[in-house]
Amino acid sequence: MFNNIRKDFPIIYNHEKNKPLVYFDNAATTQKPKNVINILPQYYSHYNSNHHRGVYDLSVKSTDIYESSKMSVKNFINANSQDEIIYTKNATESLNLLVYSLSKCYLKKDDEIVLSIMEHHSNLVPWQQICKKIGCRIKFLYINEDCMIPDSEIEKKITNKTKIVSIVHISNGIGTLNPIKKIIDYAHLKKAITVIDASQSVPHIPIDVRQLNADFLVFSAHKMYAPFGIGVLYGKKVILDAMSPFLYGGDMIEYVYEDYTTFAQTPTKYEAGTQNIASAQGLEEAIKYLNKLDLNKINQWEMKLTEYFINKLKSLDYITVYGPKDLKNRGSIISFNMNGVHPHDLSSIFNYYGICVRSGNHCTQPLMRYLNINSTVRASFSFYNTIREIDYFMDCLKKVKRRLT
Ligand code: ALA
Repeated sequence: MFNNIRKDFPIIYNHEKNKPLVYFDNAATTQKPKNVINILPQYYSHYNSNHHRGVYDLSVKSTDIYESSKMSVKNFINANSQDEIIYTKNATESLNLLVYSLSKCYLKKDDEIVLSIMEHHSNLVPWQQICKKIGCRIKFLYINEDCMIPDSEIEKKITNKTKIVSIVHISNGIGTLNPIKKIIDYAHLKKAITVIDASQSVPHIPIDVRQLNADFLVFSAHKMYAPFGIGVLYGKKVILDAMSPFLYGGDMIEYVYEDYTTFAQTPTKYEAGTQNIASAQGLEEAIKYLNKLDLNKINQWEMKLTEYFINKLKSLDYITVYGPKDLKNRGSIISFNMNGVHPHDLSSIFNYYGICVRSGNHCTQPLMRYLNINSTVRASFSFYNTIREIDYFMDCLKKVKRRLT
């Protein structure tokens, strides 16, 4: 484990003084380290001003803060240039932007879009809406009994009719780590555009967009230790240049006349209105923190926790664990159910013990239906979690079992 890092997270530290907080809901949002939290009052106390607008010092400083944040994101995912980084509100907005803008220039009636059955609603519902409007069709990559997408599905569903393949990297519902390099390469063979929802992978494993050769990749900052209210859309510049804007208004224009408008260059043409500059700075701080710990080491520790947790769960005959058996096909998200106990009841009782886990369908209703269940309890780990917390969780789980049955 990482020595002494829990003290960097005030929420954990403050709770430890009173009732313990066992935070196992990192797939929903992560806790924030002090350097990220402190940046918000610092920004508003010293630099608050609108970026890209004023020529006075404060505004120039805000512009510098904003651009420096983008440079950090560019380096973090190894993009070619910071022009390929667009800030949005969250991954959901990044996906909506893509669906709208790609559909305007790339999609026509009878085209096909390939998604997986594991997609979060944010990577499904917007595509459904646009398909209804244009008359295109969604095809799904289904999973096998080990909750993995088999090669045969990839080769059968991605065809010359496929225009876009949009796939989650790590499933927020069951933790499957998808073979995205294989999917991207196969999609490119068929000349399709690729979109990767990396919301659950960017904070946990090193991502190199150039090595992946993904055309687009989206994620939310709040799931990677940064503040709420900022998301990232990475896109290859040549495609971003060819697409139309999503939101219209200030800053994203070049010239505006009474009857027509020309637009700014990429990425500004995708960033209408004032952006969340303070959170952009918070995101840069979160990246500094992750770099200091090293994502490879983070991944090693989180997978150790995952292995320990799954082995403990699997030793209990009243627990069903979902997701791939082999650890190398997983992220640190574990969904499970207890025989005869509703997931909401289980997570409410865990709350009594100071344990935070999510229960429900995790915004993946088609996946749950495919697995023939309504919902699960989900634990998702971060580098600040410990073996001791898992042992405490298991003790509580056994107590619940004794009380409820
Ligand atoms: N998408 C987030 C989750 O899976 C909110 O919990």
